[in-house]
Amino acid sequence: MRITIFGATGRTGQLLVRQALDAGHAVTAYARNPDKLRFTHPELTVAAGELDDEKAILEAVRGADAVIEGVGSESAATRRIIAAMDASGVGRFVVVSTCSVPDPADRPDLKFKALVRFVRTAAPRAWSEVRAAAEAVRASDLDWTLVRVAKLDDGPATGEIKVGHYGHGVVGLSLRRADMASFLLAQVTDRTHLREAPAISN
Ligand SMILES: NC(=O)c1ccc[n+]([C@@H]2O[C@H](COP(=O)([O-])OP(=O)(O)OC[C@H]3O[C@@H](n4cnc5c(N)ncnc54)[C@H](OP(=O)(O)O)[C@@H]3O)[C@@H](O)[C@H]2O)c1
Repeated sequence: MRITIFGATGRTGQLLVRQALDAGHAVTAYARNPDKLRFTHPELTVAAGELDDEKAILEAVRGADAVIEGVGSESAATRRIIAAMDASGVGRFVVVSTCSVPDPADRPDLKFKALVRFVRTAAPRAWSEVRAAAEAVRASDLDWTLVRVAKLDDGPATGEIKVGHYGHGVVGLSLRRADMASFLLAQVTDRTHLREAPAISN
């Protein structure tokens, strides 16, 4: 498949690009700092651009089978990617989100609520932007999945990923970036979580 990745130069993004190429996909990596991607591959196209460049975003998305976004708290960028996908008929959109984005199936306990309140106080812009991005994704007609995570760590993949909703005693707070990358990649072909916002952790 042909996958366009936003946030490709990030810590999770670089792992995701490598995993996608290793799995035999063709990847377009959209990056404001293309030099950060320190490897080449015959199936890797690096598209240089900022997140406010609608034309470059459209070019990067056109012809893709799926788009994965792991840029973070930039809701305007998410809206531009959605518009580009709409305009070019690309349906599958896998988006990294966070525990600050609620889901009706969550059952947050007091500790979890305190954590989200802390995030809101410590990083109010990120908190509101990630929620605005999730709202835009949910309001779209795309085949979206919002992948929610609380805290990312480095280290080798464990291959053990818990999937569910917060507050049910299954999903915790921490996840290895390598596991995040493999879950994001799996969503491209796995439609189990279509138009859902699963929370995941190790
Ligand atoms: N870190 C955590 O504990 C945590 C928790 C929950 C969710 N998340 C989310 O998980 C995703 C991956 O996290 P990570 O820690 O692996 O990411 P990261 O290393 O911080 O990388 C973020 C990526 O987004 C790009 N980016 C961010 N802001 C941008 C902007 N204004 N314009 C253009 N590009 C921008 C970065 O580009 P450059 O390389 O050019 O900087 C980079 O490619 C992110 O969406 C993050 O919000 C992280």
